[in-house]
Order: sequence, then C-alpha cells, then structure tokens
Amino acid sequence: MMKNTIKKVTEGHLQELLDQIKQKPLPRHVAIIMDGNGRWARSRNLPRVEGHRAGITSVREVVEGSAELGIDYLTLFAFSTENWKRPESEISVLMSLLKRYIDKELPTLIEKNINFSAIGRMENLHESVRKKLNQAKEKTAHCTGLHFIVALNYSGRAELVDAVKKILLSAKQIPVDIDSVTEGFLQQHLYTSSIPDPDLLIRTSGEYRISNFMLWQLAYSEIWITELFWPDFNKRCLYEAILVYQKRERRYGGLSEKI
Ligand code: FPP
Repeated sequence: MMKNTIKKVTEGHLQELLDQIKQKPLPRHVAIIMDGNGRWARSRNLPRVEGHRAGITSVREVVEGSAELGIDYLTLFAFSTENWKRPESEISVLMSLLKRYIDKELPTLIEKNINFSAIGRMENLHESVRKKLNQAKEKTAHCTGLHFIVALNYSGRAELVDAVKKILLSAKQIPVDIDSVTEGFLQQHLYTSSIPDPDLLIRTSGEYRISNFMLWQLAYSEIWITELFWPDFNKRCLYEAILVYQKRERRYGGLSEKI
C-alpha cells in the first residue's frame, strides 16, 4: 500500500481524492513531524544533508496543498531543542535551507495569502535566522488564508517550562488566584495561545513516537503514520491522510454517537 503512494499519479487521480475530501469537514489544524530525511539520503548513498535538501520539495507540496484545500493551520516540526546534538555542519545546512526557503518562497506565500509564523525558543537561534523569520512574519501578517507555522528550536516540554515561567513572572506583578489556574489559563501561556489544537498529526518514516512535539496540544489529535520518508511525501499523501482522518470518529473521551 505504501509503495503506491510514491508512484507518480495523474492530475485526474488527485482530483478524485480532492472531490472525496470536499464531501466531509476538513481538519482545521494539521501538524507534521517530518522524519526520515537522513534515511532517505542513506538509501541513495547520499550525504544526510541531501535528504534535508530534498525535503524542501515536500515542504512546498504540503504548504501549497494545505492552502489549496482551505486548511486553516499547518504546523511543521523543523528543528527540535534536541537537534542541537547533531553535527554543526548539519545544523548549519538546515538553517541555510530554512533561510533559502523563505527567500525563495516568500513571494508565493504572499500571492497565496499564506500567513507565516514560527514557534519555539527564538532567542537561541542565530540572528540571521531570526531576522528571516521576522521578515516572513511581517510580510505575510496581512494574509488571511492558511496559517503556516514552523516549529523551530521547539520542544513540547520546553514550551511548558516557558509557560510556567511566563505565569510566575506575571504573578510577581499581579498575584495569580489559584482558582484561576485552569486548562484555558495554561493554554493562554503556550506559544500556540492563538492557535487551535491540531486535529491531525502526520508522522513520516514509520516511527511511532511523538518526539516531544506539542505535548499539550496533541491530547486529542488523530494520528496518521506513513512508512514513507519525508522527501517522498507529496500532496497526494496529504490528501490520503486527510481522507483517513475524515473516517475517524472523534470521541474526546466520551461515547460513540452510535451507542
Ligand atoms: C528529520 O529527518 C528532518 C529534520 C530534522 C529536519 C526537517 C527540516 C527541513 C526539511 C528543512 C527546513 C524546513 C522548512 C520548514 C523550510 P532526520 O534527519 O531526523 O532523518 P533520519 O531520522 O532518517 O535521520
């Protein structure tokens, strides 16, 4: 089944999938753990960084595919707080790819009404990266279509630690009433305070892990895992994941409507 996914498909088939998708509600927020760039490269006897380079095409595919579908939010996990353990040369290529992606794609993002932003510990990123991210955020601030969010120097635990720090800091000015500490209160202090929780989490490369991604926000997300490596992921795979999502019954801990 997975092999089929990487076959080249005709526009006609893509259109069929699109027509099916349009019959049911879309996930409002799709989040993706892009994984398997290194293994994709190794399977071709290429250096790891070639996998990251090839992964940019998949980024373009899912961003444009999500915008075309009318999805409201797309979050891509591009670099975790743990990824600093990788060789400096690999980190440097990843950061360069991100900057080049913004340079190249910014006009397209604007043209397609895509609003760009980043979440994570921005303060630890190189100034040149922060500048690029801010530039893309500012230049797409007026865009009202897809919200494209890149998680960079991000981890779910770091986000929770930062939320607690924010709360303690503001409590120094105005004491916090213990009864006002609710789930909603904590949520307001996350990086994603203005973003709905992901409805669908996609992970590539056949790993069955969350990898410290959106630990709070994924509480009730539907998960779809594909064996494909990230550079092999394309619009059609996104459509397939959404079709599977649309068949799921979301109960949020309650009972099935059928019961
Ligand atoms: C996972 O593969 C991929 C990453 C850690 C990086 C993904 C980043 C990009 C594709 C570039 C920049 C992103 C944007 C949004 C423009 P891996 O290296 O962990 O693969 P492996 O598990 O096979 O080693």
